[in-house]
Amino acid sequence: MIGRNDLCWCGSGKKWKKCHFPNVGAGQTTPSALSPEELKKHYLKKYDILIKTKEQIEGIRQACVLTSNILDAICAEAKAGVTTLHLDEVSQRLHGAANAIPACLNYGQPPFPKTLCTSLNEVICHGIPNETVLKDGDILNIDVSSILNGYIGDCSRMVTIGKISPEKQLVVDVAYECLMRSIAILKPGIPVSAIGDVIEAYANSKGCSVVHQFVAHGVGVRFHEGPQVPHCRNKNSIVIVPGMIFTIEPMINAGVSEAVIDIHDGWVARTRDGKPSAQWEHTLLITDTGHEILTPWKRL
Ligand code: MF3
Ligand code: CO
Repeated sequence: MIGRNDLCWCGSGKKWKKCHFPNVGAGQTTPSALSPEELKKHYLKKYDILIKTKEQIEGIRQACVLTSNILDAICAEAKAGVTTLHLDEVSQRLHGAANAIPACLNYGQPPFPKTLCTSLNEVICHGIPNETVLKDGDILNIDVSSILNGYIGDCSRMVTIGKISPEKQLVVDVAYECLMRSIAILKPGIPVSAIGDVIEAYANSKGCSVVHQFVAHGVGVRFHEGPQVPHCRNKNSIVIVPGMIFTIEPMINAGVSEAVIDIHDGWVARTRDGKPSAQWEHTLLITDTGHEILTPWKRL
């Protein structure tokens, strides 16, 4: 896990304790003891969790469908011989055509310079599109976040180029399975920590490790809302309730779990040992009875 004095995962440049540090543990109130209005106030004040209204859910649903469609279109362009910069150009064009804003552009500190993240091979996340040409044997995560009518969707997929090594195939498959297995347990009443439990148990059972330094997050009205959702084992006892919208985006490594952030750009996170890493991401809505995947991309 990141420490209280480390830089916050959200890219604000502030310390974690001064930014998205969650207030968990002491004085927790059980959701069932509160009226819906009290619960909403309590979650916002204490955890920075915005329980969404019907109207917000509708807006976020539309943003998520668009984000997912843009992601699919960009993935279809990712072939051997193409640069990741080309993928950014496609992303710019598709956002413009849909009257949408890419949430990544200028986000955080230092401002993220492109409209999407392209994370290749040993890059865990926050890869910056550049002149690198995709080639046979590469694995690439493409992460798109779009703002439509003020609402935000966030999702990512892996693309494989040509024939990839067994080690790369393993992280790609394990990361996907971690995402889908953790989504399967989502329903009101479970603690946030249940997600990390499922992910880390499965990843470790396949000999892979889970990245601790970056977490999933509430999303929809702002890009990064509470709660923080760790993908590793954790003690976050916040109870999941209907109307919450958050991502799950496990980053799974073939080797060690540690990420090293590039000191030159302040963004690109690579595995410490240079071994491959993979990630898949959905935005999820908690419903009265379970959950709904808001980003409808399907693995090919
Ligand atoms: N899906 C990633 C996230 O939730 C996207 C990061 S975009 C960037 O943080 F602007 F922060 F790079
Ligand atoms: Co995200």
